[in-house]
Amino acid sequence: MAKGFYISKSLGILGILLGVAALCTIIALSVVYSQEKNKNAQSNTVVPTTPPSTTAATTLDQSKPWNRYRLPKTLIPESYRVRLRPYLTPNSAGLYVFEGSSTVRFNCTEATDVIIIHSKKLNYTITGGHRVVLRGVGGSQPPAIDRTELIEPTEYLVVHLKGSLVKGSQYEMDSQFVGELADDLAGFYRSEYMDGDVKKVVATTQMQAADARKSFPCFDEPAMKATFDITLIHPKELKALSNMLPKDPTGIPLPDDPNWVVTEFQTTPKMSTYLLAYIVSEFENVSMESDNNVLIRIWARPSAIQEGHGAYALNVTGPILDFFARHYDTPYPLQKSDQIGLPDFNAGAMENWGLVTYRENSLLFDPLSSSSSNKERVVTVIAHELAHQWFGNLVTVEWWNDLWLNEGFASYVEYLGADYAEPTWNLKDLMVLNDVYRVMAVDALASSHPLSTPAEEINTPAQISELFDSISYSKGASVLRMLSSFLTEDLFKQGLASYLHTFAYKNTIYLDLWEHLQKAVDNQTAIKLPTTVRNIMDRWILQMGFPVITVDTSTGIISQEHFLLDPESNVTRPSEFNYLWIVPISSIRNGRDQDNYWLEGVKNAQSQLFQTTSNEWVLPNLNVTGYYQVNYDEDNWRKIQTQLQTDPLVIPVINRAQVINDAFNLASAQKVPVTLALDNTLFLNQETEYMPWQAALSSLSYFKLMFDRSEVYGPMKNYLKKQVTPLYLHFKNITNDWQNQPENLMDQYSEINAISTACSNGLNECREMVAALFKQWMDNPSHNPIPPNLRSTVYCNAIAQGGEDEWDFAFQQFRNATLVNEADKLRAALACSNEVWILNRYLTYTLNPNYIRKQDATSTISSIASNVIGQTLVWDFVRSNWKKLFEDYGGGSFSFSNLIQAVTRRFASEYELQQLEQFKKDNMETGFGSGTRALEQALEKTKANIKWVKENKEAVLNWFTENSK
Ligand SMILES: *[C@@H]1O[C@H](CO)[C@@H](O)[C@H](O)[C@H]1NC(C)=O
Ligand SMILES: *[C@@H]1O[C@H](CO)[C@@H](O)[C@H](O)[C@H]1NC(C)=O
Ligand SMILES: *[C@@H]1O[C@H](CO)[C@@H](O)[C@H](O)[C@H]1NC(C)=O
Ligand SMILES: *[C@@H]1O[C@H](CO)[C@@H](O)[C@H](O)[C@H]1NC(C)=O
Ligand SMILES: [Zn+2]
Repeated sequence: MAKGFYISKSLGILGILLGVAALCTIIALSVVYSQEKNKNAQSNTVVPTTPPSTTAATTLDQSKPWNRYRLPKTLIPESYRVRLRPYLTPNSAGLYVFEGSSTVRFNCTEATDVIIIHSKKLNYTITGGHRVVLRGVGGSQPPAIDRTELIEPTEYLVVHLKGSLVKGSQYEMDSQFVGELADDLAGFYRSEYMDGDVKKVVATTQMQAADARKSFPCFDEPAMKATFDITLIHPKELKALSNMLPKDPTGIPLPDDPNWVVTEFQTTPKMSTYLLAYIVSEFENVSMESDNNVLIRIWARPSAIQEGHGAYALNVTGPILDFFARHYDTPYPLQKSDQIGLPDFNAGAMENWGLVTYRENSLLFDPLSSSSSNKERVVTVIAHELAHQWFGNLVTVEWWNDLWLNEGFASYVEYLGADYAEPTWNLKDLMVLNDVYRVMAVDALASSHPLSTPAEEINTPAQISELFDSISYSKGASVLRMLSSFLTEDLFKQGLASYLHTFAYKNTIYLDLWEHLQKAVDNQTAIKLPTTVRNIMDRWILQMGFPVITVDTSTGIISQEHFLLDPESNVTRPSEFNYLWIVPISSIRNGRDQDNYWLEGVKNAQSQLFQTTSNEWVLPNLNVTGYYQVNYDEDNWRKIQTQLQTDPLVIPVINRAQVINDAFNLASAQKVPVTLALDNTLFLNQETEYMPWQAALSSLSYFKLMFDRSEVYGPMKNYLKKQVTPLYLHFKNITNDWQNQPENLMDQYSEINAISTACSNGLNECREMVAALFKQWMDNPSHNPIPPNLRSTVYCNAIAQGGEDEWDFAFQQFRNATLVNEADKLRAALACSNEVWILNRYLTYTLNPNYIRKQDATSTISSIASNVIGQTLVWDFVRSNWKKLFEDYGGGSFSFSNLIQAVTRRFASEYELQQLEQFKKDNMETGFGSGTRALEQALEKTKANIKWVKENKEAVLNWFTENSK
């Protein structure tokens, strides 16, 4: 699945609007964002926080195999024939249903008198007295069926036999069933959307991780690979899609009902159940054939296709498929690649083999009104999903405990694939901000967890879904990037190709990849490692966290220590490696050539590489390919600062971001003074690149939250205004007064930062520019003159400076917007107003589904709370309406945890702590639902904030006062 950076991304946009990045990496006590949880928070379904199955597991009699969550190894499926008929209108009972029949052929590898197969929420037709019919294949005689039963907690259909199945024999089992085509986004489900005033229904699937069993009975574990013959029976005017192409593209009319057509698809290769997909819709497509004769089609709502929104996806898919075929040294395994944008899809995307499903905003692109970041999202999500077509789909992990390998790998190579499709964008660099630093904020907590989990600890669907978190995706990606970097990409590719060739259509554990990479290492002499790939990598994946490397340039001593953001936190998780790592350290000295060094699992070492003379500096972790942070003796810090202020270009751009990021993190862990971190931002008045600025703005977002209601804020704004003015003028100049778009993507992002930072910190020229642009639009509403890239920030700043007229105009435009990208930009910007009464009115709108869709309510309230004026309003609102909010929006549809996080983010006084404690007391009876953990974290975080402000306020005030002159 694509990472659900949906939420974090929208928070990021919001942060830019406010002049800072919202994802604060300092004292990040609660930045645990689980993709699957975000996904659920967005959906309209009720997702119980603790599924009954978890508790049931402890009470079930474990000696019975059907009470265990893992399948026994007695039966191995070989093939399935599945026929499904979804009804896109409700039946007489008002229920949307699908009818199905299925035949599974399996081998018996160990005699058994029970057949255990997954089945969830399916009602079976009784045939010959039982739910299933059993047959022998190739002359074997099946035993008679005694009885069948459905076990709900473990989601099994159990067939008890009167005799035994014989080892080495093959059998077939038939069943007929009815399931609900619910709008629950799981298994075979329905998605609805409006086409003008007409409601349309799509039948579609989401099997990962454990919902294929909700569509037909199957051995629903990733290692139970089989072939599938899928047949769909559907209304004749609609199109049917599945993993494979249909045998007969026109379909065969159903004999007893000619309004229905039968579409039979070709047999799939051996594959896992979680990668199946089938869709019935009226969608249309654009298509082409790739250089390697793969049919590529992009599917979407007819109007979206007619307006050309599939064109960008179509343009990049061919190159990306060809890139991966070469990268893996393996042709694309199927004949066709379909990708489809669904109006209602709550993960980011899903890599179903040959039929990838997406949220619309991750596949469709409107050149007229979407921004470059919308485009970046499309190309990276496509690359991520297409990377899985080999790594994940052709070769699949044995069990979900290795999910990190699957997702970490795709999250790494998505940058390579996207970079191939958009070679001028420098996308690969972005990984440092979007994955490495972002996940470090979580991984630096004592409550983090290792990448790898033992297989036996992951059993229930709830345990599986917990694995879809930022550690699996972003840390997985970060350590694989590090591995690829010290092996070199070429060697990594050799090992990878050998792994894929060996295990095609099979399953693996992560050690298999290490073994094939080791073979590649042993096959050459140029790259030497201090020990095996496995020994090096074990320390990165079996223990949580990462080291901070400290370099003393006077002695050349280099040391490592487990980095914890809160130095007082207790690490309770033991590690067999004592939290020491084998660390590849590439470094530069005064901008000269790269040196490579290994810190081999010891606490301290000494090397001349890190010892400098009077005017030399040393900078380790070139391009931040290593997953660690770096600290120095004060002398070296000063020399780096001097270098940055005299000639910053000597230091590579990613390392300029690193110097800022690492210093602020070290400051929050009390390893360097906060003023040293602030000193590292002094060179920004000469900096025009996106990465260093973004590192500074996201680090300083915490300062804004802590101080924007205090006397520190004036000098802080003056300082930022002073630093950003040259950046603003630079972009004004190269874009010819904001007429042209900067050429490359990083510059486009930097331009947006320039405007948002300049305007929000009071640069008059900027304020006048956005007001004028917005006024032009108000004067002629049918023509929006604001370039798509600048819309978010121009809207926000114009509304912040404006009054009722600007707000009402924007609200009207929001109501009229047909494109979700445009509506989202306006919806966030409406929260930027500085008028208390307008914000209050907006707050009441958020609970009116006629104005704000229910799924957007929390994120809108959170936007309002991010506004310093809105925050108090939202806090009062939440306190006085908690019970009602909870009753109306309880269950899973409303993300109480996001709400609590947003509204308490600024809390840093004893008084606010008291209020929060009172709030907890007052509402104990009602409860906090999905916000329970967030409330505890907010209490903890508020205490940490109080402490931080107490210790740092004076120094920060003095520093900003001194440096804003
Ligand atoms: C099942 O058994 C048949 C015949 O013994 C064999 O050809 C086939 O490969 C086996 N399939 C699986 C999935 O084990
Ligand atoms: C399955 O059976 C249950 C119990 O009779 C019923 O409530 C449910 O609606 C049925 N589901 C479908 C899809 O018919
Ligand atoms: C797709 O490629 C064509 C041909 O290169 C180009 O003209 C068009 O602008 C591209 N479309 C998008 C949305 O990038
Ligand atoms: C070993 O190296 C040779 C030459 O570089 C290469 O062609 C071959 O594929 C490599 N074998 C493996 C197993 O990596
Ligand atoms: Zn994925």
